[in-house]
Amino acid sequence: MTPPRGFLTLADIPVEDWPAVWDRTRALETNRLATTFSGKTIALVFEKPSTRTRVSFEVAAYELGGNSVVLSTDGSQMGRGEPVEDTARVLASYCHAIMVRTYGQERVAAFARASSVPVINGLSDQHHPCQVATDLYTVREHFGRIDGMRYAWIGDGNNMANSWLEAAGMFGLDLALACPDGYAPDPDMVKTARDAQTKLGKGSILLTTDPREAAAGAHVLNTDVWVSMGQKDETVRRKVFTSYCIDPALVAIAAPDTIVLHCLPAHRGEEITGDVLDGPRSLAWKQAENRLHVAKAILEHVMRAFGGTLPR
Ligand code: CP
Ligand code: NVA
Repeated sequence: MTPPRGFLTLADIPVEDWPAVWDRTRALETNRLATTFSGKTIALVFEKPSTRTRVSFEVAAYELGGNSVVLSTDGSQMGRGEPVEDTARVLASYCHAIMVRTYGQERVAAFARASSVPVINGLSDQHHPCQVATDLYTVREHFGRIDGMRYAWIGDGNNMANSWLEAAGMFGLDLALACPDGYAPDPDMVKTARDAQTKLGKGSILLTTDPREAAAGAHVLNTDVWVSMGQKDETVRRKVFTSYCIDPALVAIAAPDTIVLHCLPAHRGEEITGDVLDGPRSLAWKQAENRLHVAKAILEHVMRAFGGTLPR
């Protein structure tokens, strides 16, 4: 079986390539226009809603000199059951790259196997690599480094938490995750990240149910919605997660120069209070803007690494 080609999880871009991707991000933040995707089109496939991912990739393609086409379940033959593989095969014959937002990671992988052009994971139930690549870029821009910081994840052990775990394994980060009982990240992902850290000889992963334990002294406080797209146990979750909120009291026990990240959309008064999200420690709005710059650098990278057609 052909291995999937593309950026399906954070590790699909090797650790040693990330500094160049983030340096290129910085260059594209300073000077937004380029011609590196000139004459090319990316298909953006959405089986779930999106604001940031959709608009950042559309604008990214345009500002790199190319084009984008958006396809959603409703309004395409995917909504009438056309198999992922058939959709991918056909889109790849028109377009030069494909971004997919979907449910199970196996759907992203199936898309990538059937596609002859690079595929980018724009969020699955298990991973959100474009977002965590952006979060790391945001930390790097703010603190000048991603090493030597204490990272806290407060809330659900969801797709974002999994991609953060992957990052912690790859880069040897100190990551503490506070999740309620029964909502911790996938144990296999925890094990993989811990094994990677052991090999690397640096980093730590702390799992706790106590948000204060994770937040104490943290340089980066990070959270996400209590109910992710596609999750059905909304009422139960709203009860279970009540104390998993980044509020001023939690910020007060973090490092004095702590920053607060949120991938957005946010529910003020649930996982984060309005005064924190809109306050001086929050980088959420810069983080959201950075999705655009990072989307461009990722697009250029996958075209080189997996497509081989992008001029240097
Ligand atoms: N953070 C993020 O992926 O936002 P959207 O769901 O709006 O794309
Ligand atoms: N965990 C959230 C992230 C949204 C960007 C979700 O999957 O809905």
